[in-house]
Amino acid sequence: MKDLVVYYSFEGNTRQAAEIIAERLHADILQLDTVKELPKNKMKYFIGGMQAALGVCAKLKPIAIDPEQYDRIILGTPVWAGKAAPAINTFLKSYNVKNKITALFTLSGGGDNERCVRYLEKKLVNLRTTVALADRNYPCASENDRKLNAFMEELINGK
Ligand SMILES: Cc1cc2nc3c(=O)[nH]c(=O)nc-3n(C[C@H](O)[C@H](O)[C@H](O)COP(=O)(O)O)c2cc1C
Repeated sequence: MKDLVVYYSFEGNTRQAAEIIAERLHADILQLDTVKELPKNKMKYFIGGMQAALGVCAKLKPIAIDPEQYDRIILGTPVWAGKAAPAINTFLKSYNVKNKITALFTLSGGGDNERCVRYLEKKLVNLRTTVALADRNYPCASENDRKLNAFMEELINGK
């Protein structure tokens, strides 16, 4: 089975998790990059939060591989305003992959992903496994390794 880990990351937390997952699964990895970046200051919360809340599709930089060629896709996103980052909306709209995405990992400040999973579940009909990881700057990030191991076990057994 050919696996692909697809993710967007603004500040590196989702990237770190994506790299661990891809390495352990021997999967290919695809980082989504937006043409316009958010500002690095506090305005990022306002602009990014607003875009995510409205379900905006951010313009993506060109993608070198064809995600539709993979059997299974593991999707990763930071939680923005309780939803997925706008790059994820664009990815789901641009490619016919919704039925291939069976697993989702989310990174958030509080380590909670319930709203984001509910939001994505409406689009992802075959979603079976999710894990909510916390930003490395938050105390609950100490749970990340344990949660990630359980997530990986489900992915490997689900092959
Ligand atoms: C625009 C924006 C909105 C965010 N909204 C939320 C939120 O609703 N809930 C939450 O727990 N964390 C929120 N965060 C924090 C991020 O989810 C968290 O820092 C995550 O680890 C970032 O992942 P990244 O480093 O891969 O970008 C937000 C961060 C940004 C930049």
